[in-house]
Amino acid sequence: MRVLFVLVFSCLLATCFADDLDDYEINNNTFSEDFLFGTATSAYQVEGAWDEDGKGENIWDRLTHTTELIKDKSTGDIACDSYHKYKEDVALLKDLGVSHYRFSLSWSRILPTGFANKVNTAGVTYYKNLIKELKDNDIEPFVTIFHWDTPQPIHDAGGWTSEFVVDWFADYARVVFELFGEDVKYWLTFNEPKQTCHEGYGSAKKAPAISSPGVGEYLCTHNLLKAHARAWHIYDEEFRSTQNGKISIVIDTPWYEPATEDDEDAAERKRQFVFGWYANPIFNGDYPEIMKTRIAERSELEGFGESRLPAFTKDEIDYIKGTYDYLGLNSYSSYMVKTDPEPDIGSPSWDDDTGIYEYQLDDWIPAASDWVRVTPWGMRKLLAWVKKTYNNPAIIITENGFSDDGTYGDDATRILYYQTYLSNVLDAIIEDEVNVFGYTVWSLLDNMEWMVGYTEKFGLYQVDFSSKNRTRTAKPSVDYYKKVIQTRCLVDTCETDTKKR
Ligand code: NOJ
Repeated sequence: MRVLFVLVFSCLLATCFADDLDDYEINNNTFSEDFLFGTATSAYQVEGAWDEDGKGENIWDRLTHTTELIKDKSTGDIACDSYHKYKEDVALLKDLGVSHYRFSLSWSRILPTGFANKVNTAGVTYYKNLIKELKDNDIEPFVTIFHWDTPQPIHDAGGWTSEFVVDWFADYARVVFELFGEDVKYWLTFNEPKQTCHEGYGSAKKAPAISSPGVGEYLCTHNLLKAHARAWHIYDEEFRSTQNGKISIVIDTPWYEPATEDDEDAAERKRQFVFGWYANPIFNGDYPEIMKTRIAERSELEGFGESRLPAFTKDEIDYIKGTYDYLGLNSYSSYMVKTDPEPDIGSPSWDDDTGIYEYQLDDWIPAASDWVRVTPWGMRKLLAWVKKTYNNPAIIITENGFSDDGTYGDDATRILYYQTYLSNVLDAIIEDEVNVFGYTVWSLLDNMEWMVGYTEKFGLYQVDFSSKNRTRTAKPSVDYYKKVIQTRCLVDTCETDTKKR
C-alpha cells in the first residue's frame, strides 16, 4: 500500500511562493537495498592544480585565462583543490554513506598534448590514488571520460568539428581503459554532449566559445556520436571480457511540458531536438526523423546546397546504434512549451530549427541558477517518457541538484528539492515501472560553475574559496541525504517495507 505524506516544509515555503508544493505528497515506500545513492563532480570544476605535475592546458584554462567571459572573472586554477584534497573528499563521501562517486578524468592531465604520444605518469598516479581511496572505502567509481575539458592542442587541431577527433578520443579512451579498467566497472564516455556542441560550437556560451549557430553544433555532434560509439566498441571488443564493466553516455534534458493540448507536438519536437539528438542514434538508430526533416527543409529555404544536419551512412547508423549498457540521465528542471509560428528564414540556428517557444512559471520555486526551478513532477514524466521512447533502458540519474547563492540558511529549499524529486523517482519506479537503478546528487562540493564561476553553488558541502585550505562545511541537506541513504526512506518513517522489491 502506498501512503502519502504532506510536506513538512509547507509553512516555510507557502509564504514565499504560490506553488502547490506546500501540499506535495511524498512517497513513503522505501528504495530497494541495492538502489545506488551517490554524488558527482567533474575534473575542471573541483581539481585545481591546472598546470601542476605535467598537466597540459585545456580549453577552459585558455578561456578563463584569456577572456573576460566568466561572470566573476574566476578560474578553475585552484577550484576546490581536490587534486590535493581527494582523501578529504573521500572521507566526506564515506561519512555520507554513498554507494558511488561520479567524477571525471581530465584528458590533459593524463595526456598533456591531448594525443596519446605522451602519458603523464603523475596524472595517472592521481587517478589511481583516487580510485584506490574510493575502493578502500567501498565506494564505486563512476568515471566520466570527458566532461567538457578538451585539451587545447586537440582544439587547435580542429577540435570537435574535425573528423580526426574520433581517432584522438578513441586513443584516449583506450589509454584510460588500459590504465584504470581493472578497478572501474561503470564508464561514461561523454557528459552532456549538447553543452559541448550547442554551447561550445553553436551559441558560444561555453568554451571554446565558437559562434557557428545552426552549423557548428551539428558537425560537433556528428563527430562526438561517432567518438562515443568508437569508445564503446573498443571497450566491448578489447576490454569487456577481462574487465567486466559497463559503459554508456550521460545525456541531459529538462522536462518539456506542453502549455496546452495543442502544444504536444511542439513539446515532443523539443524533446527530440534536445535529448533525441543524442539518444536516438544510440538507442534507436539515426537522428530523429523530425530533426532530419525540419533541418533539411529550412536549410533548403536558406539556400544551402545540403542539409546543415550531416547524414550518417547506413554503416554508421548500425555502428552507433546499441552502444549503451545503461543510460546516464542528467535533469534539473522543467519548461512549458508552445509552438513558435514558423521562425523566419534568415540566419540559421538550432533554436529556430526547433520552432518552439519555452518558459518557466513564476510560481515554480527558483534556485540561484536562472534555469533551475523546483519542478519534481517533471522528473517522473521524463523518466516515463525515456522508458517509452528508448525501449526501457536501465537508467541511473547521473545528476540532479539545486543551487544557492551562498546564503543557504537552513537549506530548506534544497532539502525540499531532493525530497520531492526522489519521491517522483520512487513513483516512477513503483508505479510506472521505470528501471532506475541509482541517483546522483550534483554536487558533492560547491565548485567552479563554468561561465558563472563561483556565484552559483550546487554543493552538499560549502567550500570556503577565500581560505587557502578550501575548507569544506556541511550544509543542512547533508543530514537529510545521509538519512535517506541509511533508511532508504524520504519521510520520518516509511510504513511499508519494500526492500525486497
Ligand atoms: C551539468 C554539468 O554536467 C555540470 O558540470 C554542471 O555544473 C551542472 N550541470 C550544474 O549546472
